[in-house]
Amino acid sequence: MSNENFVVIYVGAGEINFGSPEGPWNHSLRLEKSYGSRLVALGIIDPDVARSKAQIALKVAAGIEGYSETASWPTVEAAAEKVGTNKVSLIIVGAPPHFRGGTTSKTNLDLRLLTAFPQTKNWLIEKPISAVELSDIAGQETVLNAYQECGTPVGVGYMLRALKAVRVIQEIIREKALVVMGTQARYYMAYEFARKPAWWNKQASCGPIVEQATHLISLSLFFGGKPILPSVRTHTVEHTDAPGKLSKLGFDEATIPPECRIPRYTSSIWTYEKGAVGSLVHVVGLHGNTYDTEFEVLCDGYTFKLVDMYSSAPRLFTRRPEMGAEVELTIFKDDDPFQTQIDALIAGKPYCSYEDALETYALTWAIRNAGEKERA
Ligand SMILES: NC(=O)c1ccc[n+]([C@@H]2O[C@H](COP(=O)([O-])OP(=O)(O)OC[C@H]3O[C@@H](n4cnc5c(N)ncnc54)[C@H](O)[C@@H]3O)[C@@H](O)[C@H]2O)c1
Repeated sequence: MSNENFVVIYVGAGEINFGSPEGPWNHSLRLEKSYGSRLVALGIIDPDVARSKAQIALKVAAGIEGYSETASWPTVEAAAEKVGTNKVSLIIVGAPPHFRGGTTSKTNLDLRLLTAFPQTKNWLIEKPISAVELSDIAGQETVLNAYQECGTPVGVGYMLRALKAVRVIQEIIREKALVVMGTQARYYMAYEFARKPAWWNKQASCGPIVEQATHLISLSLFFGGKPILPSVRTHTVEHTDAPGKLSKLGFDEATIPPECRIPRYTSSIWTYEKGAVGSLVHVVGLHGNTYDTEFEVLCDGYTFKLVDMYSSAPRLFTRRPEMGAEVELTIFKDDDPFQTQIDALIAGKPYCSYEDALETYALTWAIRNAGEKERA
């Protein structure tokens, strides 16, 4: 193993980089595990300097190596002035998508980072890669080209692709020379404690498919390949429909203009270029705080059903031709896809390229738009 320092810049002092009580995401923790005393956290870029400073103080107070000299910079340019051409092993772009993925002065964060730090050896960008609809004016393709031209590994944080169970499915498909016939994804969200008004406003957050089901769409494309966007058909249950009334809302939805409110139930279907069919059901409907997600890949003679994807012990149910109706269960204890995702990126083999992420983004918008068109 190399003795060289591993030098990281975090963009965003928020939950994806530094953790939250609600979920397993926390990129800094994974880097600390991988690099220990070799880790040098050069700085955090975030306009909320007080938040960056508080995150650094927490690391120092906990005695974590690598944060004794960490800087807090309010802008990319302020950071560039200090860092100059010094070594940067990794930049993690964990700012909200509203500031990234485009060419406008509001959305050009990626382009400014690429210009300021051309020496960067690896990039990890968070999902979704943008927060405005795809267009030449918005400039998502320009950002894709810029990342492709930078010549170093670029990965996007669709960590479910890094699950061990996903490797197992891939391996069986390869070994048996199977052809994927269909993918089925379902994401049932527990809404009772989701109280951030922006999340319930599709004008502000792009809605639950672009924002949340995006992880399962990324997984769908991982197995199905390129989707045919004009094939997408979507039906929704909206807040105005009788079945769309929610009895456990934890905030006052009257604060959201009616035309901006999110669908409660989204059912979508599309075809892939290679001939398979994909589908997604997303529901804002469970009570309590435990979500229910499932992803299935179907091939001739085989079904693969992945459940508990967001837990530390995902389960895979496999049915094979020789097993009749019996299903084999494999539990993947202590799986940490966030760790695997970063390790794979640094090894030069990201599970999700920026191009893949852009494809996912395009399909999530196509699903949302098809639902709105159907209603109109
Ligand atoms: N892969 C996952 O499972 C996962 C989990 C959580 C969040 N995310 C993604 O990570 C991203 C950030 O989410 P979060 O939960 O950390 O949000 P957050 O609100 O906790 O933190 C975002 C931080 O970015 C800062 N910021 C705003 N504009 C900035 C700019 N121009 N430059 C630098 N920093 C800026 C904000 O001040 C804030 O401190 C989102 O895209 C989100 O979808 C992914």
